[in-house]
Amino acid sequence: MINWENLDKLESFKKLQSLRNLVSVQQELAGTGGAERVAKYAVPMSAGLTYNYAAKQINTQLLTVLQALSDEAQLVQKFEALYNGDVINTGEKRKVLHHLVRGQLGKDVEYDGKNARAFYKAQQDAIAAFAGNVHDGKITNAKGEKFTTVIQIGIGGSDLGPRAMYLALEQWARAHGTLKMNAKFISNVDPDDGAGVIASADLAHSLFILVSKSGTTQETLANELFVKDFLSKAGLDPAKHMIAVTSETSPLANNPAYLASFYIDDFIGGRFSSTSAVGGAVLSLAFGSAAFADFLTGAHEADVSAKNADITKNAALLDALIGLYERNVQGYPATAILPYSQALSRFPAHLQQADMESNGKQVNRRGEPVAYATGPVIFGEPGTNGQHSFYQLLHQGTDIVPLQFVGFLDNQSGKDVTVDGSTSQKKLCANLAAQIVAFACGKQDTDPNKNFPGGRPSSLIYGKTLTPESLGALLAHYENKIMFQGFLWNLNSFDQEGVQLGKKLTKQVLSGGTDGALKAFANIFGI
Ligand code: F6P
Repeated sequence: MINWENLDKLESFKKLQSLRNLVSVQQELAGTGGAERVAKYAVPMSAGLTYNYAAKQINTQLLTVLQALSDEAQLVQKFEALYNGDVINTGEKRKVLHHLVRGQLGKDVEYDGKNARAFYKAQQDAIAAFAGNVHDGKITNAKGEKFTTVIQIGIGGSDLGPRAMYLALEQWARAHGTLKMNAKFISNVDPDDGAGVIASADLAHSLFILVSKSGTTQETLANELFVKDFLSKAGLDPAKHMIAVTSETSPLANNPAYLASFYIDDFIGGRFSSTSAVGGAVLSLAFGSAAFADFLTGAHEADVSAKNADITKNAALLDALIGLYERNVQGYPATAILPYSQALSRFPAHLQQADMESNGKQVNRRGEPVAYATGPVIFGEPGTNGQHSFYQLLHQGTDIVPLQFVGFLDNQSGKDVTVDGSTSQKKLCANLAAQIVAFACGKQDTDPNKNFPGGRPSSLIYGKTLTPESLGALLAHYENKIMFQGFLWNLNSFDQEGVQLGKKLTKQVLSGGTDGALKAFANIFGI
């Protein structure tokens, strides 16, 4: 029996609240015990990754309370209910099945006489066959020439995740000789986005993927027509240059005007759709279906480890609990995602949607207001670029921002140079190690302007190199962390009503039915 209780009803949360300033790792990390602490507070993840939380303000006493909180909140049981097909998305009355696209975690999930896993697998197989035919030149442009570029049109979850994953693997694929097609993305309704991408593309050899789960998103439908206009004007038949990925219930479904169509269903949330056909089409076309399958394997392995009730063996669960402690007990308002890997340049932007659209809520699953803070503000940039930008505030600002570092021993391209006795990759990793200690330990200075207070907690996920498999595991880690935090806050993490009001007012502006401030602001732009 699962109890969907608010966080502040849980006894272990009350206990946690009494432990606000329990741990200062400053002394320990700066002293001779530092190495021991770094070795002790680490959890092996899947696909060769490790979660290290030595620089978090955590000790064994806190871990015991966090374990009790996890048990009392029934986090693992709630995950089990989710992957076994319970209607966890209470707002939209839907199941939440993105784990099933990458493997079977529990029972068969059936609906409308269909087996969900079989449906997702059939779509993956259909995409793999299609991608293979494009690569082999069996599906070509009207002149019988191979497509060389794939251009995805979509926004939000139909853009951020797939784009971040493509960028994450582009150099890896080039180095491994599996970059089969270049990918580009058009998302913004700003016509300069589409115009810029089209100007940089060879239209005659471009295959567009129109991606919209709902099939109703204003930006995506506008960009579809924008692109079709360019194609027609270039003497190309849009129907021979565009495929669609949508849900079975969308207005775009079953439309012969697309060269091919692939499907998700209502149980795959947009921001959790990178491992579904939404990410599958572009990633399989760009890198081949074998790379996409490895990506799914990594994600599935991470999902399997997320089933473990022992928080010291389940990195996603532990990460979620530490994040909750920082947000609800220590009162920290934001979390920065800081990958020391250029390949992950858009990963923070993807997690921004995944986290903030999921847990940026003020009512619980039953629609009742909650009396505690929920999702933090998420932001980030790759290191070392961020160091020369917003790290000033992170080191010396008045807010403490918990940090999530990601790093790899080796770069993907295999290309490097030695300058002043070290390679660029070594410089990158040295910066990462330095930042963790600088944030945690700080540095006292008699000049207050040069004083670093320290006490700024961070975690580190690291691995040997970023591959399709480790990327899948990294993505699933964060998806599962977000899910566990939503359970802790007793939220429905799987709808997004907060995006609706703006959409409604935009329609009102465009139809002219406005007055007051809305009309005045629209008038500024001549609408
Ligand atoms: O407006 C928000 C949103 O619904 C996101 O949740 C979603 O990822 C995005 O729009 C795109 O939606 P669709 O795939 O239906 O076009």
